[in-house]
Amino acid sequence: MPPPAPTPDPTMAQLAPALPRRLLVTGGAGFIGSAFVRSLLAAPDPPQVTVLDKLTYAGNPANLAPVAEHPRYRFVRGDICEVAVVTALAGEADCIVNFAAETHVDRSILEPGGFIQTDVFGTWVLLEAARQHGHRRFLQVSTDEVYGDIAAPARSTEDDPLRPRSPYSASKVGGEMQCWAYHETFGVPVLVTRGSNTYGPYQYPEKIVPLFITNALDDRPLPIYGDGDAVRDYLHVDDHARGIAHVLAQGEPGRAYNLGQGDQPIDGLTVARTVLGLTGRPPELIQHVADRPGHDRRYALDTARAQALGWHPQTQFAAGMAATVAWYREHRPWWEPIKSGAFWDFYQRNYRPRPLASA
Ligand code: NAD
Ligand code: DAU
Repeated sequence: MPPPAPTPDPTMAQLAPALPRRLLVTGGAGFIGSAFVRSLLAAPDPPQVTVLDKLTYAGNPANLAPVAEHPRYRFVRGDICEVAVVTALAGEADCIVNFAAETHVDRSILEPGGFIQTDVFGTWVLLEAARQHGHRRFLQVSTDEVYGDIAAPARSTEDDPLRPRSPYSASKVGGEMQCWAYHETFGVPVLVTRGSNTYGPYQYPEKIVPLFITNALDDRPLPIYGDGDAVRDYLHVDDHARGIAHVLAQGEPGRAYNLGQGDQPIDGLTVARTVLGLTGRPPELIQHVADRPGHDRRYALDTARAQALGWHPQTQFAAGMAATVAWYREHRPWWEPIKSGAFWDFYQRNYRPRPLASA
C-alpha cells in the first residue's frame, strides 16, 4: 500500500497558483527537494512537476513515495551534468528549481571532485538549458555557507561578500556565480535562496541532526567535533520548502534571499543534549573527536528580505526537534537500510582518523 498523501500546507496552497505551471525539479529525491515536491503536490491545482535526480547515495525514491501516483508528477532518473537529458526535459518545462548537489562538508573534504562536477558544472548545464528554452524562472538552491564564518553578533545579509571556506561551500559559490553571470549576460531570470542548516524527516543520516538521532536510538556515540561550540541556525525543512516557494512565486530575479530560522544560533553540544533528552539516552554517549578541518565557527543570517515577501519560519527548534526525533523513532524501516555497507564505509573514513579528544 502506498504511504498516505501529505497533508495540505496552507502556505503552499496559497502560493501554488502563482508558480510557473511546469516545473523541472532537479535533486528532488533528496531531503529538501522531496519536502518541497511533497508539499507542493499536496496543494490544490499544483503545477506539473518533473523530478530529475541521479539517485546518488543521498537520493531516495522512498522520499517521493507519498506522491508517486500523483497525476501531475513524473520521475526521471538522470544526471544534471548530462546535456542531452537536461535539454530535453527543460524543453517541456518553463522553470527549473535546482536542489541537485553534493551537500556534505565532510565528504567534500574527503573527495572534492564530485562537488565541482555537480555543483558548478551541473548548474551551468541547467542554466544553459533554461537560456535556450526561454524559461520564466530559474531558482538555485544555495546555502548560508557561501558567506563563510561570521563573528557574533553580526548576521550575513545578501549583499555581503562571499567567503567560502570548504570545498563544498566553494562549489556552491561556483554554481551561484554561473547563475549571476547568466542573469547579467543573457537575462536568465535567476533567483537564489541561501538556506541555513536544515533538519526534519527524510534527511540522510550523515548531517549532525539525523546522525545524532539515529546513533542515539541505537545507543551509539554522538561524535562532537572539537569543543562542540560551533553554532548554526537550524531551520525546519518545511519552513525551508515554504521559503523556496515564496521566492519562486514572489522574488525579484537577480536577487538572493536568505532563509534562516533567525533565532540565536545553536551549538553542537546543545544539539547533542537535545537529542539525548528526547531519546532518553545518557550524556556519556557524547564523544569529543578531532575537529573538522577549516570548521566554520558561526553562521547567522539576516532574513529581512525573505520576510518582506511574507515568509516567516513557523517551527521553533524545540518543537521541530521533538517532531523529528519522533519521526526517526517511527521510521526505522526508512533509515536502517541506509545505515549499512556504503554508509559505514564513509563513517569509517570520516571518523576513524579522528583521535578522541576526550570522552
Ligand atoms: P541531499 O544530499 O539530501 O540531496 C541531494 C539530491 O541531489 C539527491 O537526491 C541526489 O541524488 C541528487 N543529486 C546529486 N547529484 C546529482 C546530479 N549530478 N544529477 C542529479 N541529481 C543529483 O541534499 P539536501 O540537503 O536536500 O540539499 C538540497 C539543496 O539545498 C542542495 O543544493 C544544498 O546545497 C542546499 N542546502 C542544503 C542545506 C541543508 O542543511 N541540508 C541547507 C542549505 C542549502
Ligand atoms: O548551513 C547550511 C549547510 O548546512 C548546508 O549547505 C549543507 O549542505 C549542510 O550539510 C549543512 O552543513 P554543516 O557542515 O553546517 O552541517 P553538519 O550537520 O555537517 O554540521 C553541523 C555542525 O555540527 C557543524 O558545526 C559540525 C558539527 N558536527 C557535524 C557532524 C556531522 C559535529 O560536531 N559532529 C558530526 O558528526
